[in-house]
Amino acid sequence: MIKNDSSLRTRVAIIGGGPSGLLLSQLLERAGVETVVLERKSREYVLSRIRAGVLESGMVELLREAGAGQRMDREGLVHEGIYLARANRGFRIDFRRHTGNSVMVYGQTELTRDLYQARDAMDANIVHEVEQVEIHAAQSPNPYVSFRHDGRECRLESDFVVGCDGFHGISRKTIDSSVLREFERVYPFGWLGLLSQTPPVSEELIYASHERGFALCSMRNPQLSRYYLQVPLEDSVEKWSDEAFWDELKRRIPAEAAETLVTGASIEKSIAPLRSFVAEPMRWGRLFLCGDAAHIVPPTGAKGLNLAASDVFYLSQALLRHYHDNDDSGLDDYSATALARVWKAERFSWSMTRLLHRFPEQSEFDLRMQQAEIDYLETSVAAQASLAENYVGLPY
Ligand code: APR
Ligand code: PHB
Repeated sequence: MIKNDSSLRTRVAIIGGGPSGLLLSQLLERAGVETVVLERKSREYVLSRIRAGVLESGMVELLREAGAGQRMDREGLVHEGIYLARANRGFRIDFRRHTGNSVMVYGQTELTRDLYQARDAMDANIVHEVEQVEIHAAQSPNPYVSFRHDGRECRLESDFVVGCDGFHGISRKTIDSSVLREFERVYPFGWLGLLSQTPPVSEELIYASHERGFALCSMRNPQLSRYYLQVPLEDSVEKWSDEAFWDELKRRIPAEAAETLVTGASIEKSIAPLRSFVAEPMRWGRLFLCGDAAHIVPPTGAKGLNLAASDVFYLSQALLRHYHDNDDSGLDDYSATALARVWKAERFSWSMTRLLHRFPEQSEFDLRMQQAEIDYLETSVAAQASLAENYVGLPY
């Protein structure tokens, strides 16, 4: 609700218009709770970012519940397994067999576009290109956010503020340093990603461990492929021509796949560092954190976006209980509930990263441990079931 030119009042002020902020806004507004979303960038910029593309079944359900799942259901690809490969051998982890469940391959960029459309259809209040966002009085019953927009100083008053502003956002930094604890592991390599208008090499994702480094074959749709190579942190994108990328990928994946790989010009190429990070607590007074604002996982387990969805699920339920039933127990439990799931996904992402990458400091003993673990996975139903259970997503 607009109070006057530059002062607004809403129930839930959401900072950040990425997947976390948009999904939270959508779920709350559908249940009659008013929100305002403040986003630093333009919509075009947000929609130009290429991110991950594997959705757990819990997230798929949540998007349907939010009324934003129609295109995903039409165009998304249901995957019932992945391949793990090392040197020239590959084996399959069968999700359906071990969990009765599957995942959906659907790009985060498309999903964000769908969420914007769903928000537009409800006349959402999303303010783009805001600057100098600051959260105030988070420990009081009347928190507010100040920001600049169109050259004016603005103020957004609210009952609650939710930080959905990603790893580099300001929300987490608002929490008093005597309370905030941060846990971090930075990995000594990055992922070089390439997107190309070519048919995927395999119907299912291939995670390949190789002495030259890890490689991943993924996809966005039957005509759009996404591939990744483990590269040293010092490498720059300019150093990697498309040709060099394809040559290296062919070396790291099984020969059978390399022979059928269709190559083409890259549409996008970028290097991302790998990091594990968790901030505790995820609540400070009337400020709540969701998604990348509170935690980062290395992409090896495909968990980043899915963790954002489970945070949003817990927080939306808690806020609805507050508004509809006058019950604050969900809000009081939010941080502990969300973190319990976050840490398990951190563990899985870290273990997949450790299992499949070459580390600079790795000894011969460490290499043998990796090989033994992959051997164990290839031959043990219990080990496969554990990987499958985590990959399709632990229950909310
Ligand atoms: N004020 C307003 N908006 C901000 C600010 C700020 N100070 N700082 C950052 N933002 C915006 C960013 O521009 C971005 O659009 O917050 C948004 C955060 O979006 P994401 O980084 O995509 O984070 P999130 O919505 O939590 O999405 C989950 O998990 O692993 C990842 O790739 C996955 O990006 C996905 C994320
Ligand atoms: C992707 O398609 O971008 C992708 C898929 C699986 C991962 C990471 C990234 O584990």
